[in-house]
Amino acid sequence: MAPTEKYVLVAGGAGYIGSHTALELLLAGYKVVVVDNLCNSSEEAVRRVGELAGCDVPFYAIDLRDKEALDAVFAKYDIDAVLHFAGLKAVGESTKLPLEYYDSNVGGSIALLKTMAKHAVPKIVFSSSATVYGDVTRFENMIPIPEECPTGATSPYGHTKLIIEDILRDAATADSNLKVAILRYFNPIGAHPSGRIGEDPLGVPNNLLPYIAQVAIGRRARLQVFGDDYVGSPDGTPLRDYLHVVDLAKGHLAALAKLDSVASTVPGEGYMREWNLGSGKGSTVFQIIHAFEAATGKTIPYDIVGRRAGDVLNLTAKATRANKELNWAVTLSIEDACRDLWHWTTMNPYGYGKQPE
Ligand code: NAD
Ligand code: UD1
Repeated sequence: MAPTEKYVLVAGGAGYIGSHTALELLLAGYKVVVVDNLCNSSEEAVRRVGELAGCDVPFYAIDLRDKEALDAVFAKYDIDAVLHFAGLKAVGESTKLPLEYYDSNVGGSIALLKTMAKHAVPKIVFSSSATVYGDVTRFENMIPIPEECPTGATSPYGHTKLIIEDILRDAATADSNLKVAILRYFNPIGAHPSGRIGEDPLGVPNNLLPYIAQVAIGRRARLQVFGDDYVGSPDGTPLRDYLHVVDLAKGHLAALAKLDSVASTVPGEGYMREWNLGSGKGSTVFQIIHAFEAATGKTIPYDIVGRRAGDVLNLTAKATRANKELNWAVTLSIEDACRDLWHWTTMNPYGYGKQPE
């Protein structure tokens, strides 16, 4: 699709990855409409995306499960593709509130797909996660992880991602006009280099980099390192494939371009394929702490504590499928991401919100 003709609907576009992707779309000449129920985000992010892109971004504060409200947006805009970021994403919380996770993630996705079908919208790019692979040390020689690795999620959150992948696969099989890209993200980090948009977790951050940033800015005293006794890690801490959120955002434009260029290979069926989005390189927790310290000049005090339930030794992507088929690869380093995270944090120490009294 030529970028300027029709709209891309960004579901969950007020959130961390969705806001960065909406900006990249606008900068590349796409027209964007954002829907988000704001359960984990702020409308201010969308306003700032518009400010950075030099335009107003149409925004609708609606839940995907609100079919009438969603239908009205699809009726109003000529939508050619959907980027689907909307969902709940905290692994630990999902074990406490599984029904909320199934309802919002799976229910929201079904409502979105039905509305797309009603309005004959032919393309969707879905935010899946490396968490669908589970603990790949259950297999021999499966790291770095290829897309062919058997899936095996270990949390309700991960199960919702797998269920949505299956729903998308079945929908594409049944509808010859539907093209689906499943993007399995590894660990996005950092913020836009402008310092205007970034990650703004509610409450105590679950993820490593937001926690480190809050220690560095003085909001939290010390980092807890969840275990340094992992056999198979160079320093005993788990390995993850961290990638800059702007690189990740650009992966969505690459996926959209791919969907434009492919045709189904099975008569009567649509198209669907999975791609890992990662750097292909694993880093330990200590390596990340040191990279942040080197990039910012701050010291991060930490304590080694017990392992976090559900953590696995190594989630590192085999990224060659995306490199070859999407013509996409990371261009930014972990140091770039730490520098940009710090810029965002110093400019917005309380995220999009105000400092508490
Ligand atoms: P985020 O929470 O910042 O963004 C998700 C957005 O969706 C939020 O703005 C939230 O308000 C909105 N939302 C949630 N449920 C909704 C619903 N029912 N209707 C409408 N809007 C709804 O999270 P993120 O980090 O930007 O993640 C985006 C997507 O990528 C999620 O689907 C997440 O599971 C997936 N993902 C994220 C990571 C990561 O490390 N951040 C890794 C792998 C996959
Ligand atoms: C977690 C989720 C994963 C999700 C991803 C992105 C789990 C088990 N997995 O991945 O499903 O897709 O977030 O949202 O929750 N760490 C610390 N101290 C901290 C925080 C993290 O030592 O305060 C360590 C963790 O043990 C891990 C690494 O840092 O080894 C990265 O953790 P995190 O940022 O939470 O990402 P994942 O666990 O990879």
